[in-house]
Amino acid sequence: MKAVILAGGTGTRLLPLTSFMNKHMLPVGKHPMIYYGINSLRKAGIHDILLVTSKNALGMFAQYLGSGAAHGVFITYRIQEEAGGIAEALQLARSFITDGEKFIVLLGDNLFEEDIKPFTESYERQAEGAMVLLKQVSDPHRYGIPVFHASGTIERIEEKPANPQSDLCVTGIYMYDSHVFEFIDQIEPSSRGELEITDLNNVYAAAGLLSFRKLTGWWTDAGTFESLQEAASLLREGI
Ligand code: G1P
Repeated sequence: MKAVILAGGTGTRLLPLTSFMNKHMLPVGKHPMIYYGINSLRKAGIHDILLVTSKNALGMFAQYLGSGAAHGVFITYRIQEEAGGIAEALQLARSFITDGEKFIVLLGDNLFEEDIKPFTESYERQAEGAMVLLKQVSDPHRYGIPVFHASGTIERIEEKPANPQSDLCVTGIYMYDSHVFEFIDQIEPSSRGELEITDLNNVYAAAGLLSFRKLTGWWTDAGTFESLQEAASLLREGI
């Protein structure tokens, strides 16, 4: 399986730090944030990685990661010209993924404890559709939150809802096959002018093609000062 790591964006919630440095290069414990996603992929046996980032940040990623050889992986780079949303960044993987191929997408600011191999193996066995990983959180209004059918399947995902229907959030760990690029073509920019990953996942949910698994180990997105600090302390404790 191949992987795509999305490491662009403007990192507005981490200003002023992100005024001169890409969020995913900020230090978390001993390493820059991007290290952890790459490490998780390598441990799961995934070595062929596409990294999508902004043109300003590319030099620093290239300097740190190079070909990926020092990290036991092989990295391809793509530039997202403008911050146009997660689903727009994902579109840039179109030529990296061959027809019929399955792949995993990581948001570069998602840090987690768990081995992802059981999930990728389970997705390999799934006949069609996409899979998301969910995690119980105490602040669901910050995330994409699923609304479930009575049968337990995902009916739709609400992005940063004021009244969350669940305390399970959709993490930035997604699995798709090459049909995802046709689905991206079907979505429209949101009110903030971006192609949203939640709108994309909702196309799958509406078709009854969005499965999920739950993470049980710790998980955090390091997109705010608070969660960045939490991530650093979780990693320091080595939990
Ligand atoms: C994004 C997604 C959201 C998801 C979160 C996980 O939000 O839009 O659905 O729950 O990542 O990290 P963002 O962090 O870009 O606001």
